[in-house]
Amino acid sequence: MLQGRRVVLGISGGIAAYKAIEVCRRLVDAGVHVIPVLTEQAHHMVGPTTFTALASEPVKTSLWHDRDPIPHTKLGQTADAIVVCPATARVISDLVTGRSGDLLSATLIATAAPVIVCPAMHTEMWEHPAVRHNIEVLVERGVVIVWPEEGRLAGGDIGKGRLADPLVVFEAVEELFQDGPLRGRRVLITAGGTREPLDPVRFLGNRSSGKQGHALAEQAAAMGAEVTLVTTVELPVSPGIRRIEVGTAAEMHSAVQTDSGSYDVIVMAAAVADFRPVGASTQKIKKDGGVPTVVLEPTVDILAGLGQTKPSHQVLVGFAAETENLASNAQEKLHRKGADLLVANDVSAPGVGFAHDTNAVTIYGADGSVAEIARSPKTTIARKVLEAAADRLAPKHPIQDNESPEP
Ligand code: CTP
Repeated sequence: MLQGRRVVLGISGGIAAYKAIEVCRRLVDAGVHVIPVLTEQAHHMVGPTTFTALASEPVKTSLWHDRDPIPHTKLGQTADAIVVCPATARVISDLVTGRSGDLLSATLIATAAPVIVCPAMHTEMWEHPAVRHNIEVLVERGVVIVWPEEGRLAGGDIGKGRLADPLVVFEAVEELFQDGPLRGRRVLITAGGTREPLDPVRFLGNRSSGKQGHALAEQAAAMGAEVTLVTTVELPVSPGIRRIEVGTAAEMHSAVQTDSGSYDVIVMAAAVADFRPVGASTQKIKKDGGVPTVVLEPTVDILAGLGQTKPSHQVLVGFAAETENLASNAQEKLHRKGADLLVANDVSAPGVGFAHDTNAVTIYGADGSVAEIARSPKTTIARKVLEAAADRLAPKHPIQDNESPEP
């Protein structure tokens, strides 16, 4: 949905700047509020009057000409997205290093909104190791790159580096705002196996790799959710996902408890220890002290606790790793823990569960539903689990019978 979105259209000084006029036009036609920001150099390539006439606001260029003393923070804070088209090697480099030399580069580092960069430059510049490196950094940070094409360049040259077609740029903006089934929802995911210390160097743990939980977090974000990931593993996560690192079941419990009622969906994918050693030694247990006896005590059952306090709007999802009697164990767990969905996998089957990139699960619903998902990548499993959860969410703003929609 593009209608009503605020997009800062940054135009830097490349010959291709004239194509940004069409991008501006398409965005405005689609209902986007376009704020054009031209660099000083862009003024040599295109006239600001054209953008002022076509866009939703007059062109902005300087940090100092505006009546507002801090225009870049205002622009950055209120933008739903920033599109830099064309993006020169200089602007790309500024964004990578965080240099705020002008209004456009300052706005780019004063925003939490998604950024789309559309590079355009000569082939030699595009292929220079410095530019390649900068582009890689931006990709890692989650910046969307609209890749340049091969074709006619300025000065009669032909090669790679030509700005993508304005329609392709427009479609990249459109894709950014595509409505996902979890848009506007808060989702909490737990991932990885907890570690319960015996002493400062030893712990009781399990074989969970955290891959399924991390795939759930990535998919939830891709489906539009605001995601919090409570994890015990160091796998990287996309920008935008709030990550809380924990070690023990008790730490995971306290991280999950905070604001648990504010989430629309909670997925307990973590392999939480059921027992922990009583009174972990503060010093390393020495061999010459004899064979120690380890006494265990139960940990808190986080999922069962959430099941007891669950608000009516929330969909609570548990996981179950089983080695026998999958259906009966999973259904018993689903009801005992008060979950809405329980995702069960037989971890004794080949290519399934811990440490693998694939999984095969059956999703049991408290409503009696049973959905089998054959062996697939963990990202596919994640998507199916989240779709099942999204299907059970109440509409965000239900219209009551006695309430008529606003005109
Ligand atoms: N779980 C939890 N807190 C615990 C143990 C488990 O929140 N202390 C959650 C897991 O994250 C998972 C679900 O409960 O979503 C089921 O975990 P599982 O280990 O399969 O079940 P247990 O209750 O531990 O039962 P058992 O080990 O006897 O099969």
